[in-house]
Amino acid sequence: MSEQTLDTFEVEQLIPDFTAPAMTQVSPERETIDAAEVNSRQWTSRVAGPFKPGSEVHLRETCRMFRETFNPYRPSVLHWPTLEPDALARIVALPIWDIAVQTEGKARLRMAAYAASIDEPEMRYALALNAWEENRHKEVLSRMVAAYGIALVNEAPYEYPKDVEWAYLVTGYSECIDSFFAFGLFKVAHRSGLFPPELIDTFEPVMQEECRHILLFANWLAWHRASLSWWRRICFELKVVAVWAFLGWERIGLARSIDADGNEQKQDNNFTVNGAQAVSRAEVDVRELMMLCLQENDRRFSGYDARLLRPQTMPKLVRFVLRFMRNGQAR
Ligand SMILES: [Fe+2]
Ligand SMILES: [Fe+2]
Repeated sequence: MSEQTLDTFEVEQLIPDFTAPAMTQVSPERETIDAAEVNSRQWTSRVAGPFKPGSEVHLRETCRMFRETFNPYRPSVLHWPTLEPDALARIVALPIWDIAVQTEGKARLRMAAYAASIDEPEMRYALALNAWEENRHKEVLSRMVAAYGIALVNEAPYEYPKDVEWAYLVTGYSECIDSFFAFGLFKVAHRSGLFPPELIDTFEPVMQEECRHILLFANWLAWHRASLSWWRRICFELKVVAVWAFLGWERIGLARSIDADGNEQKQDNNFTVNGAQAVSRAEVDVRELMMLCLQENDRRFSGYDARLLRPQTMPKLVRFVLRFMRNGQAR
């Protein structure tokens, strides 16, 4: 496949045995939408007993969770409410739209590329579906920027990753970091009243979908680790350390990105960390925001079977940092 077509490819082109799931009708009833919403956020396995990480039952139930919590919303029916001029100006000014669209585009390709490399059919399907959902997020965002007249730079061509496992790990861990902060910021935006509740509702399924994605990632990780011989496992853990180092480097702002016209783009890779001021009227205390991120993280995962593993690094790191902070002040 040429680089050009990778900008608009269908997941089925990279994974020929993948069939896109059915979506809701063009004009779904309110009850259908609500039922799908509820279904996407709670799931309990019918299988009794523990899920030993990496076991057959762990693999099967992880993939079943991902399939059965699929939300069939259709991007074209999402409602983009008319915004008051000040709310519109605030949305247009958020420095995130280019990076958000490009992140979804990259995630879609990297997940599809990695899924294509997996032989195990259930995990292969789950990761392909995840890639398909990232493409749907990209579509949601492109409909939103069109609805509100947000100008985007031209996207640089999406390149097929040379090391598909590395690319998948970078995307998976990035989602774990970004989703953790996005859950808290979304709550801040909700409470602040700066954005209409209908707009918050429109984005809610996307936010919960990211929770499902990182739930899948955490369980894929455990399953993958268990399948490796000791020496492959050592190589893999070194790769994981390198991925975290890369993400740290990227997030302290050293990474640059170049758009399709060759211009360097100053994008906010850290918006999820320091964006609270942009979505709230009141001063948001760092400690309070961290606590909110933890609460929202716990709430969003609470509906899924407790035997499935949760992403651990961000909640642990933030709990550790909070021990040294008191009322917004570092000790
Ligand atoms: Fe996404
Ligand atoms: Fe995702």
